[in-house]
Amino acid sequence: MFLARSLSGRLLLLTIIIVMMVEILVFLPSVARFRQDFLLERLQMAQIASLALLAADDEMVEAALEKELLANAGVSTIVLRRDSARQLILRTPLESPVATTYNLRDATAIDLVADALIALIRTERRVVRVIGEPILNAGEVIEITLNEPELCRAIRAYSQRVLILSLIISAATGLLVFLICRRLIVRPIEGVVESITSFQKDPERGPIAARQNSGLREIARAEIALGEMQTHVRSSLKQKTKLAELGVAVAKISHDLRNMLATAQLMADRLEGSKDPTVAKVGPKLIGSIDRAVNLCVSTMKHGKADETPPEARQVALQGLVNEVSSAVFTEDGSIELRNDIGENSVATVDPEHLFRILSNLTRNAHQAMESAGKGDCVHITAAGAGDEIELIIRDNGPGMPARAIEHIFQPFVGSVARGGSGLGLAIASDLAKANGGVLDLVSSTTEGTVFRLTLPS
Ligand SMILES: Nc1ncnc2c1ncn2[C@@H]1O[C@H](COP(=O)(O)OP(=O)(O)OP(=O)(O)O)[C@@H](O)[C@H]1O
Ligand SMILES: [Mg+2]
Repeated sequence: MFLARSLSGRLLLLTIIIVMMVEILVFLPSVARFRQDFLLERLQMAQIASLALLAADDEMVEAALEKELLANAGVSTIVLRRDSARQLILRTPLESPVATTYNLRDATAIDLVADALIALIRTERRVVRVIGEPILNAGEVIEITLNEPELCRAIRAYSQRVLILSLIISAATGLLVFLICRRLIVRPIEGVVESITSFQKDPERGPIAARQNSGLREIARAEIALGEMQTHVRSSLKQKTKLAELGVAVAKISHDLRNMLATAQLMADRLEGSKDPTVAKVGPKLIGSIDRAVNLCVSTMKHGKADETPPEARQVALQGLVNEVSSAVFTEDGSIELRNDIGENSVATVDPEHLFRILSNLTRNAHQAMESAGKGDCVHITAAGAGDEIELIIRDNGPGMPARAIEHIFQPFVGSVARGGSGLGLAIASDLAKANGGVLDLVSSTTEGTVFRLTLPS
């Protein structure tokens, strides 16, 4: 079964079958020839035996001699007709009456083949007459009778020898063809197939088809075309990945930009037409926000590619930073508040810009959820140091996250259920935490509220 399925196995089987068929075609004339030679030899021996009669006085020999002559020639009777008048006759009694006559003088090739094939399977004991021409023009016609089983046995033995020889020849040829084809065709094809499958497994890093120097033009062409195609596919894949990364980066950046500009807008709205003394206080915050937006734009233009600016870690006082977040995200009407319970001495070693983005995403989410559900009024942030890490707990008493958002948490674009939300906020926050050597995870989210934990190096 395995043989018939593989290319090399099929080649082996096919070669054996074809060689066997050729052997059969050769066998038919050769077995006919063998039978004819067998009979002609008997005729010649009979002719020689009959010549003994010429030496006898009245062309008669003793019965004992006659029997010996016939036995030597392997026949039962001999009749040699020298001319229409004279004939020499030797005979012993026949086993049975003559069943049929084979006339070798006018037998066609088809007759000879057919008679030989029938002899191959004949089992009954028969006596047959054979007629032929005497050699050296020693007479007109020679006729013998003989026991057919002898002939059949000889033909069968001959066929057996031919069969064994044919089997050996076809097995040897098959093996030879198999080995040659395997080296010349199958191996190179296997190489091409291997290259295709390993490339398919990992198109970005898998090996590219190399020329095996199989010497076959067609396979060499396939190898070259495959190699070119793989190189081409790989380069366009790289290009696509880069573009996709760029797309994600641009989306991330514009996402945060949008938030920052929203803040700026909020402040600007308040500034507009106000003679309030708070203007003096709000002004610098507005400038700070706009600065951040500008910085992001600048870095987008500078890189034009996938990576975020690498974090510039330094010691950051957490209390102050959370206060900044609070005033950027939370309005001062006080309906929803941010309770900053972080100790004065709590510090983390992070990029302050990044931490600001992480916390504003988390608190903005909580704020938006509580505002739209009309449930909850407080986001509570605490910090606790443990070894060389510090854990920030961001807890709200809002409605809790929807199941879909929990299922796809930290995956870009899929987790959002908020109208107008892009589903990037948490993904960005998580990425930024990782980039700063920290972890952001969701501790719990129930109808009682949501708790996130941000672990950072302290
Ligand atoms: N504290 C929270 N309480 C309730 N739901 C939350 C909270 N934080 C996140 N969610 C839910 O998780 C979803 C995903 O938040 P994420 O910040 O990733 O995207 P978004 O807020 O929808 O869009 P944006 O990209 O503008 O931030 C939100 O749509 C919201 O439904
Ligand atoms: Mg959000």
